[in-house]
Amino acid sequence: EWSPASFVETTVAELKEQLGNDRVILGLSGGVDSSVCAVLLNKAIGHNLTCIFVDHGMLRKNEFNKVMDAYQGLGLNVIGIDASEKFFADLAGVTDPEQKRKIIGRDFVEVFNAEAKKITDAKWLAQGTIYPDRIESLSITGMVIKSHHNVGGLPKDMHLKLCEPLKWLFKDEVRRVGYELGMPERLIKRHPFPGPGLAVRILGDITRERVSILQEADDIYLNNLVSYICEDGEPLYDKVWQAGAVLLSNIRSVGVMGDERTYEHPVALRAVTSTDAMTADWARLPYDFLAKVSNEIINKVKGVNRVCYDISSKPPSTIEWE
Ligand code: XMP
Repeated sequence: EWSPASFVETTVAELKEQLGNDRVILGLSGGVDSSVCAVLLNKAIGHNLTCIFVDHGMLRKNEFNKVMDAYQGLGLNVIGIDASEKFFADLAGVTDPEQKRKIIGRDFVEVFNAEAKKITDAKWLAQGTIYPDRIESLSITGMVIKSHHNVGGLPKDMHLKLCEPLKWLFKDEVRRVGYELGMPERLIKRHPFPGPGLAVRILGDITRERVSILQEADDIYLNNLVSYICEDGEPLYDKVWQAGAVLLSNIRSVGVMGDERTYEHPVALRAVTSTDAMTADWARLPYDFLAKVSNEIINKVKGVNRVCYDISSKPPSTIEWE
């Protein structure tokens, strides 16, 4: 009989046995899986675990600092690296979604590995891989719809061994393990967020200015999802699998603000329900909620004069726009 308590107990014991006094490196993404993996390893081997968290500059508003604070609050030994200059430089002028992913994936591995190499006596690379991650990469054999990259990538010349303590778990089990480990609820209930971040939610090329426009709109949307309490007492945020704003920066439409004509970009709001991201339905968000978010975004975010709600399911659409 699987229970989070027995999982934690046996896994911590196994990790102690397996890792002994070895040094371990882990790439943190801010997501549930890598965070739970880190706390589990921290419980087993303490400061023999070094976590690396790379900021590519396309995270949500204030995300890097919030997540770093949360990790430090959990007692993790974590190194934060702001590598945004490199990512923005390499992404300049790139509009193709797969090209964006390739560049980000490559830069990510480069930055991560450079940092990992400083830990010269490391023996292991830990990853928060879960069961569906492995199934998905098997089941789409050859048919690449979107090339998903996960954090990390093995620095080959370091000869690190791979440690994946969550590899048999499903997402809901990972969350239950998180509670068992006493992690903060908001961290455990976080929605999935794509590795390339807002880069795949900005249509067209990526600039710092576009990222900050999208960060503002996205922040308004997410804060409202958290503060909107449904009839059963739960936040609307917890009713959806994933949500985020998309900047349609290659489109302009006409609007009117006061006495002035505007000619700016639209923002599309996306929210879906799902159990595994393989299929998804658009979330039936309440009209009063959508009205409030739309007003707030248009009034507060300079550069945006129209808000649309995406009512497409997967398939045939995908969750992300790129
Ligand atoms: P799609 O858009 O393919 O997304 O329906 C399915 C799930 O995967 C996430 N996603 C990504 N995650 N790197 C990632 O780590 C990526 O390049 C990537 N693209 C999509 C998406 O957010 C959703 O949860």
